[in-house]
Amino acid sequence: MTLHQIPNTLQTDAFWMPFTANRQFKAAPRMFASAEGMHYTTVDGRKVIDGSAGLWCVNAGHGRRQIAAAVEKQLMNLDFAPSFNMGHPIAFDFAERLAAIAPKGLDRIFFTNSGSESVDTALKIALAYQRAAGQATRTRLLGRERGYHGVGFGGMSVGGMVNNRRAFATHLPGVDHIGHTYDLARNAFSKDLPAHGAELADDLERLVNLHGAETIAAVIVEPVPGSTGVLPPPQGYLQRLRQLCDKHGILLIFDEVITGFGRLGTPFAADYFGVTPDLMTTAKGITNGTVPMGAVFCSRKVHDGLMVGPENAMELFHGYTYSAHPVACAAGLATLDIYKDEGLLTRGASMAEYWRDALHQLKGLPNVIDIRNVGLMGAVELAPRKDAPGARGYELMVDCFNRGLYFRQSGDAVAVSPPLIVERSHIDEMVSILGDAIKRVA
Ligand SMILES: Cc1ncc(COP(=O)(O)O)c(C=O)c1O
Repeated sequence: MTLHQIPNTLQTDAFWMPFTANRQFKAAPRMFASAEGMHYTTVDGRKVIDGSAGLWCVNAGHGRRQIAAAVEKQLMNLDFAPSFNMGHPIAFDFAERLAAIAPKGLDRIFFTNSGSESVDTALKIALAYQRAAGQATRTRLLGRERGYHGVGFGGMSVGGMVNNRRAFATHLPGVDHIGHTYDLARNAFSKDLPAHGAELADDLERLVNLHGAETIAAVIVEPVPGSTGVLPPPQGYLQRLRQLCDKHGILLIFDEVITGFGRLGTPFAADYFGVTPDLMTTAKGITNGTVPMGAVFCSRKVHDGLMVGPENAMELFHGYTYSAHPVACAAGLATLDIYKDEGLLTRGASMAEYWRDALHQLKGLPNVIDIRNVGLMGAVELAPRKDAPGARGYELMVDCFNRGLYFRQSGDAVAVSPPLIVERSHIDEMVSILGDAIKRVA
């Protein structure tokens, strides 16, 4: 088979692919057939190193037998059980295990099935909390430019990526955005957290002055925006945002769908930055990407604020058929065991320096205008071609795939975040393929 050739029995018409240029893809498909450890194998038998942990989710690497065994056992024992007014022990066990590794105080867990659902759930909990606290005028939700919070109407509305919003005119009402923190002029090629820009958190004051604090329920940010190209926050920025939220009675939501479960070398970004939000959204790494699942970690303040009213009254009119799905819980418990046994929630800390130095070696290559890193996340930003933003990034992604490296493209940025089992030799291999491809595509 030649490169990209797929079995000629495979029809590609019916599957409407998500976040993909369908016609372009189907003209020259890139297909994975299997995966093990740090690598995918393509349908034509080539090994491709996984530079993005799938979609930032396969934190313990691919093909983990322990998870497969737990899933199979659970399927045979209790394939499904409702969580509406009924329970099954594994859901309670999993919530306790998550609470045990949660940032201090965020130990009340609401289960969902994806990052998007976690975000919409957190936004709804924030609104319900404010109402229960006698602050019913606090209905406004704030996001941040260049934020990605999934694709539900809530997440889309607080999100700050124009292409994800413009076709879907009717967003949630009452949403506004603080400015993003990416400052190429002042912070290009920063190592770890950029020095400039803590004061950008004060943009929250602008919206408070514009709308009135008493109208604002919550602000949601990714501690490190991932999908818009890995944007580490300026030093002191998140601390300042926390202070301002406290000052104005606004709930702070961290969207840790990417940064959760060890990505920065700490269990959660909240631990890395020493900033505790009121609510934290997670998904992806919660089951190592094997079974769809998400969870919202809630502070006692928020949770207990809703545990009011008569004991026989439902406290939150919200949930999903598959909330706390037993098979997802089984996958999640096995995943947490692996994280614990292999020290993966903190392993990134010991690899981060090597990762940073390797990525920054690409400085000086043609059209590289910025390199960013924090924990085991990184990005290489290329100058956009005139009148064709994203074209250079796309060509680079295809070139790398052809030469054995997969990563997530974000416009003209390469966003890399390997499985947390990554070894130095893998980092060398990724950076070498990337460097050669940058020279070719430039
Ligand atoms: C920060 C963040 N929030 C939410 C989501 C949405 O997650 P999902 O695709 O599981 O709905 C993502 C997905 O990449 C994400 O990066």
